[in-house]
Amino acid sequence: MTAAELKLFFLLFYSLWPYYLVAVNISHLPGFNGELPFRLETGYVTMDEETGAELFYYFVESERNPNEDPLLLWLIGGPGCSGFNGLALDMGPLRFKADDFDGKLPTIVANPYAWTKLASMIFLDWPIGTGFSYSRNHKDYFTDDVHAKKLIYGFLKKWFLDHPHFLSNPFYMGGESYGGKMATLVAHEIVEGNEGGPQPLVNIKGYLVGNAITGDKVDKNSQVPHAYGLGIIPKEIYKLITKGCVGEDYVKPQNAACAAHLNVFNDYLSEINIYSILDPKCSDEPSSLEEIVGAGRSLEENSAQSLAQPSIPDTSCINGDLLANYWANNHLVRKALQIKEGTRGRWHRCDSNVYCDVLK
Ligand SMILES: *[C@@H]1O[C@H](CO)[C@@H](O)[C@H](O)[C@H]1NC(C)=O
Repeated sequence: MTAAELKLFFLLFYSLWPYYLVAVNISHLPGFNGELPFRLETGYVTMDEETGAELFYYFVESERNPNEDPLLLWLIGGPGCSGFNGLALDMGPLRFKADDFDGKLPTIVANPYAWTKLASMIFLDWPIGTGFSYSRNHKDYFTDDVHAKKLIYGFLKKWFLDHPHFLSNPFYMGGESYGGKMATLVAHEIVEGNEGGPQPLVNIKGYLVGNAITGDKVDKNSQVPHAYGLGIIPKEIYKLITKGCVGEDYVKPQNAACAAHLNVFNDYLSEINIYSILDPKCSDEPSSLEEIVGAGRSLEENSAQSLAQPSIPDTSCINGDLLANYWANNHLVRKALQIKEGTRGRWHRCDSNVYCDVLK
């Protein structure tokens, strides 16, 4: 068979299983005033028929020229942080408005600086167990880098089979934090796959890495001089660590004196918001979410709940991260996004229980 015949065979093969991808176009979202000014698609891609593992994604079409603009698959880190972080808290087309939050449904607005003004983007809930991705089999909720990169490449191939008109667009693999590391692994997987055989040829042009994780020894060790440079720790602590921890991995120090100095350092860090040192340290998990989550409850209960007095969090802590948890757990939102009922309980912006270094 020629390459073209193989590709046709592959397309036909998948078309016999029409349920590997379910997608919907969404024109309105709760909390957003009017029609969305861009094309938003959400969907599930079945990754394992037997276990029922499905990956959920948000796809935003470029507002400029989707036929020619680049396509990016963007990965958030954690692992376990939803693609929603990209969609509404980062370079994506949406933003939360924090100043008028009344404890119920947060307001969302368009992000004037969105990358989706120039490029189409897929924001993926990876791995299984993140955001709205789910499985019937508990085992699918634990993974590692090797399985995850194959899962993500597998997702991409199925997405392209359902959206073949995007195969000719320049494709970029991207991600931030843990997703930045993963983007390089997936890019490699794509290049190997392109060489290897009968599958959609991904027109990969490059990869983008944002504040990627590089490994504990680099990331954690460099926190100390960085924190000292920012005035977060005093000179004495800085000196004790640099003298007492020579050659150590600051995450797992072997020397007891070094470990003691690092405990002091970690106490300092625990008091601040390490992601944005000038902002207050806040929890992004609402304390009384039961009042707003309607998923799986009766209609009567839902209307009774909406009458209940909502509790409004401390104003200095009303930020996008917190509002994301209010928004995505609202039953109207789940309906609008066409989340399959009963597949996920409480949604977490980030859930750290989806990954392990060694697969069991
Ligand atoms: C969504 O809209 C696009 C563009 O109008 C269309 O090509 C596509 O088939 C639609 N998808 C679904 C799932 O309805």
